[in-house]
Amino acid sequence: MAKMTEFVSIATTDEIPPGERLVVEYGRKWVAIFNVNGSFYAIEDRCPHDDGPLADGILNDCTIECPRHGASFDITSGKVLSAPALVDVPTFQVRIENGSIQIAPR
Ligand code: FES
Repeated sequence: MAKMTEFVSIATTDEIPPGERLVVEYGRKWVAIFNVNGSFYAIEDRCPHDDGPLADGILNDCTIECPRHGASFDITSGKVLSAPALVDVPTFQVRIENGSIQIAPR
């Protein structure tokens, strides 16, 4: 039988105001949670180019720019938008339950 996706609470919505981000430990990964105008998105906090911490980068709408060499990614899809990164960054499912932000693998 297929295993059901398990959502885990990792923060509360009031910990991340609009325009802010929070990095949380999730299993063996670091995950960056972003609040863009009240919508929450989660990506792995590790640039696929050279492991830079993406959450330290500049967020412009839904685009995050890696602070190390400037690759950018769409945080809603993980899609790489500019070099030097060549591959997408992993994203996570996000849901809100009673003010709690929950994530699960895709
Ligand atoms: S580590 Fe992110 S662009 Fe190089």
